[in-house]
Amino acid sequence: MQYANETIRTLFEKHTIRKYLPDPVDRTALETIVQAGLRAPSSGGTQGPVLLVCEDRGTNLALGRLSKLLYDEGAYPVSSAQPSIADDDTIDDGFYGAPAMVHCFTPRDYRYSPFDGSMAAANMMIAAWSLGVGSCFVSRAERLFEVAWAREWARKQGVSDDWEGCFHLCLGYPSDDSWTPKPLYPNRLLWC
Ligand SMILES: Cc1cc2nc3c(=O)[nH]c(=O)nc-3n(C[C@H](O)[C@H](O)[C@H](O)COP(=O)(O)O)c2cc1C
Repeated sequence: MQYANETIRTLFEKHTIRKYLPDPVDRTALETIVQAGLRAPSSGGTQGPVLLVCEDRGTNLALGRLSKLLYDEGAYPVSSAQPSIADDDTIDDGFYGAPAMVHCFTPRDYRYSPFDGSMAAANMMIAAWSLGVGSCFVSRAERLFEVAWAREWARKQGVSDDWEGCFHLCLGYPSDDSWTPKPLYPNRLLWC
């Protein structure tokens, strides 16, 4: 496919990575990714999302296992190339062994928080891909950070209880990426 420029290539080719090398994400790249998240649009310019970066393997594994325990949507096909916990029940780490995690928190009971968080997520995923870093958006953060020990951990890192979990973002270099573009479902684009 011909792309008008590298930004368009990134947008069209970026895809979810769940198979990561154990190598840490380059510090400059990681900093750029989270700075892109902080610069995402937000409702009324409120800049609600707070990002907590964690590269501690033990913490990432403990929280990833908790994320998997909270999963209650059953089995269904998501990806055979990059299997998710919905594809493979033997995966016990809902963060897929990613060496770096970004936890996004947004103001509690604020109607635009999910949108603001999603904007931050998209910016980070696009920035990551452009830098050769794979990512995976993980949900259930609002429930995970209501579990007492996880909330206490976030509190210790400086996250106010007035901010609730919005999403987690796994980051790492792909260990295997045999991607082919997915066909788009029909009837999703209307012109008048
Ligand atoms: C709102 C949302 C929630 C998601 N939750 C999860 C999740 O909990 N675990 C996971 O492995 N992937 C999750 N994903 C990633 C999707 O499964 C993935 O984006 C989708 O299958 C399309 O694949 P692609 O990103 O490679 O195009 C989520 C994505 C979105 C946008």
